[in-house]
Amino acid sequence: MSPRLTSAITRTAKALGFEIRRAPAPGPRLTYTHASRLLYFKRLFDLVSDVEGDVVECGVGRGNSLALLAFLVKEEAHKRHLWAFDSFEGFPEPSSEDASVRHPKKGQWGRTGVRLVEQILLDSGLDLAFVRSHVTLVKGFFEDSLPKYAGGPIALLHLDVDLYDSYRTALTRLYPHVAVGGVVLFDEYMGTVEHLHFPGAQKAIAEYFGSRLSQIRQDRQTGKYYLIKREA
Ligand SMILES: C[S@@+](CC[C@H](N)C(=O)[O-])C[C@H]1O[C@@H](n2cnc3c(N)ncnc32)[C@H](O)[C@@H]1O
Repeated sequence: MSPRLTSAITRTAKALGFEIRRAPAPGPRLTYTHASRLLYFKRLFDLVSDVEGDVVECGVGRGNSLALLAFLVKEEAHKRHLWAFDSFEGFPEPSSEDASVRHPKKGQWGRTGVRLVEQILLDSGLDLAFVRSHVTLVKGFFEDSLPKYAGGPIALLHLDVDLYDSYRTALTRLYPHVAVGGVVLFDEYMGTVEHLHFPGAQKAIAEYFGSRLSQIRQDRQTGKYYLIKREA
């Protein structure tokens, strides 16, 4: 619409006593990707229903997976706390292990922030009291932030950090906190396009688990891999 026509309509509406407002932006939309990810997380929450412990996510981005995890924590009658770690300023410098067609770069995923993610959780329909009492967002690069993890044993650890060094740090620092019977979810390991884009992730996971790698299982529906911790 031309600016002249817009201002003529606005003036006429005003003269008639109406106010013209911009239509609200459409709210969050449920996509197949969201739905299948939510169902996958739910299957793994069910696996750890008898395991005491918190839920931890490394790699928050703009809060897509975090919102799903938060809904499941809430659904479970609030018995767990949800910890979420990210630099909130994007990737650190990738290493040579991360070279791929994707060309990951320092600062990618940087268009986010603690406030923004909190707002996204609220916009998703989670209430402020729940977010304040059950979700802690920790800003910082993993080398600095993860050694200060202040939660209890971990029942479910979701790793979506893409890079070789980031997986190494997250596993070294947090796997010892995972309770026996707890699960670790790898967003990129094998079998999905993410794994081709982020080959360093698979390398770091394989190096960390060594012979225990045979314990890794694949979720048939999503193709994602996870591991149940068998011994302390
Ligand atoms: C793929 S995104 C996470 C996407 C998110 N889970 C989702 O569902 O939309 C990866 C995130 O990991 C974070 N990240 C990767 N390596 C990191 C590191 N060493 N320290 C802190 N954050 C890191 C990046 O900042 C980025 O936000």
